[in-house]
Amino acid sequence: MMDSRLSARALDAQLGAWRTREPAYEALADAIRLLCLDNRIAPRTALPAERELAARLGLSRTTVAAAYRSLRASGHIESVRGSGSITQPLGRRDLGRVAGDDASIDLQQASPAAWPGLAAVYAEAAADAPSIIARPGYEVLGRRGLREAVAARYAERGLPTDPSQIMITNGAQSAITLLASLIVSRGDRALLETPTYPHAAEAFARQGARLVGVPVSIGEGWDLERAEHAILRSRPSVLYLMPDFQNPTGASMSLEARIRITELARSVGAIVIVDETTAELGADRVISPAPFAAVAGEESVITLGSLGKTVWGGLRIGWIRTDVDMIRRLTAARPTTDLGTPEFEQAVAERLMPAMPEILAQRSALLREGRDVLMRALRRDVPEWDVPATPGGVAMWMGLGAPRSSALTLAARRRGLLLSAGPRFSVGGGHERHIRVPFTAPAPVLERAAGLLVEAWADVADARWEPGESAPLDAVV
Ligand SMILES: Cc1ncc(COP(=O)(O)O)c(C=O)c1O
Repeated sequence: MMDSRLSARALDAQLGAWRTREPAYEALADAIRLLCLDNRIAPRTALPAERELAARLGLSRTTVAAAYRSLRASGHIESVRGSGSITQPLGRRDLGRVAGDDASIDLQQASPAAWPGLAAVYAEAAADAPSIIARPGYEVLGRRGLREAVAARYAERGLPTDPSQIMITNGAQSAITLLASLIVSRGDRALLETPTYPHAAEAFARQGARLVGVPVSIGEGWDLERAEHAILRSRPSVLYLMPDFQNPTGASMSLEARIRITELARSVGAIVIVDETTAELGADRVISPAPFAAVAGEESVITLGSLGKTVWGGLRIGWIRTDVDMIRRLTAARPTTDLGTPEFEQAVAERLMPAMPEILAQRSALLREGRDVLMRALRRDVPEWDVPATPGGVAMWMGLGAPRSSALTLAARRRGLLLSAGPRFSVGGGHERHIRVPFTAPAPVLERAAGLLVEAWADVADARWEPGESAPLDAVV
């Protein structure tokens, strides 16, 4: 059975810089393998015909045929009469190694364990269950007490906010998806940082947006010249930005860039969605930067927040802060997707908001320790890498000095370390020279991970190295 067909052009765009080793057919097979493992090519997708792909990539048909043979041998594709080469559902091959295998280290998600005080807050909220369930029906906007607590925290951070400007969502992810469905129409341009948070890019692309990337790096910050050019030329309807401790680079936007980018967005009538999920995750010290909207102005700026990284991803509490008009539009649009956020988790979140200073102190210490372990080990053992001093956020965006991210990801998997390759975070291709390494795990785990990464790097440098069988990657990053 086949669900969709990938054109040679689309596959070429996804492949990026794939010619990273010899022979070419194995390099091509590896690159396609990683796209399948990463879920960038969905299962049951028909790959382009050999002849078509060969013409597109400027290869001989024999090379593409050999790559497809290699993919068949490793179980990534199957030949189906009349349909061609079909990618196979994930999980057919050694899935066990991914789910619950103690021997492997999973750094695909940059998601810290729950804040240690959370269980007690759950217990406290449970004792209050009768009052939590007293209200009948649905509350699409969210619990009044939580909206008040979120608004109060914005005010503390320098952005006066009324509870009527807040909608509680099921994490920041559902906020992004809801906003994308309301703001973006097919064919619109959406401007994102590259690298970016992949599930936001997917949400905009699913609405039919054409994605435009503006480079960001920890050394150079936001490329303002490119941003200006891209905004004025592509006239996006929406910008999606993470100005504080950007995921995955950890970079923070300069004041000048905040003001300039917002001015440019306003000049073309674009809405700026500012995702502050990682904004308070300073690794060197607790830092609660003034919200972007307090600095760049509130007009056409929508702010997202979440307890996903500060408290726990499993809590699924996030929010949208915007003007009352947009809140009305969101309230009208939301019911097709969901009718609200679970009341109990909201009651837990309400109790957590006043404890944020204490929570952030624990987070900062955890992230600092993890970052320092990684930085020390990798600077010592792979001096040819650019291991940036990352001031906060959830991950390090490591420069490899060579386009080997996909190969390194596959080699690391063979050694039991699961990571997402650089291209997973790209908008419009690229980032084969970078790899994201989250520092959200405990320090001893990261110490072992660094060791495996160093070994995997040595594997990749060895021309005789074969990627062989590998388990599928997680869909969530
Ligand atoms: C920048 C960013 N936004 C949103 C999310 C999703 O967060 P939530 O768990 O609140 O849905 C993540 C999680 O990785 C993230 O890094």
